[in-house]
Amino acid sequence: MRLVFLGAPGAGKGTQAKRLEAEKGWPVVATGDLLRAAIAQNTPLGQQAQAYIQRGELVPDALVNQIVAERISQLESFILDGYPRNLAQAQMLESILTKPLDAVIFFEIQEEALIERLSGRRICPECNAVYHIKNNPSKAGDQCDQCGATLVTREDDQPDAIRRRFQVYREQTEPLVAYYRERGLLRTINADAPPDEVYQQLLSVL
Ligand code: AP5
Repeated sequence: MRLVFLGAPGAGKGTQAKRLEAEKGWPVVATGDLLRAAIAQNTPLGQQAQAYIQRGELVPDALVNQIVAERISQLESFILDGYPRNLAQAQMLESILTKPLDAVIFFEIQEEALIERLSGRRICPECNAVYHIKNNPSKAGDQCDQCGATLVTREDDQPDAIRRRFQVYREQTEPLVAYYRERGLLRTINADAPPDEVYQQLLSVL
């Protein structure tokens, strides 16, 4: 299966992608996770990406396209989480695919529902597990249930960066909904529902 997950910041793409990977074995390629790992390791890519991410802006296409091309070149199946994010990236993806996409899953949800999700999110900096202080707390307090690392708040889950991310999403990413609908690939699910229900919708559209 070759899937793209599309939706606003906080829509639940990462949560569902990780569950689908665990149950079906289709590897997740999450550009946000890869960029955050590069920042944590202080690689040249991380140094170039950091300021963009902190501000809630997109990292330049050339950097992101390269990571994705390297990652998916060896994969038969994948779940792309957070890529493509604009028209140029969508065209780049089309040009590097050796087999076409099977579906683009659009996580539909109103912006108002997302502020609370983003401000309460905690992530594991080691294994990328995602928690929420109310909806999905870690059993071990501020430690990751899966690997024991101390959970952190993402740098871009601050009010100013959240506002900018929504604006960037509306201007640059949302047009991809029409782009993939026109190509007959779009499958829309209601992301404003409990996680298990969203997962069942996901299975039913696949
Ligand atoms: P990225 O990491 O991709 O962030 P995003 O797209 O803004 O998406 P999020 O990770 O914020 O949300 P999500 O939909 O995965 O939600 P989650 O499952 O975590 O990108 C970060 C930055 O990297 C970008 O701003 C950009 O700078 C850069 N970047 C990345 N890709 C790029 C690209 N292609 N080009 C250029 N730059 C790029 O859930 C959110 C919270 O809600 C969690 O706490 C979760 O527990 C909770 N939750 C999940 N589902 C539910 C539910 N159903 N009900 C209640 N709570 C829920």
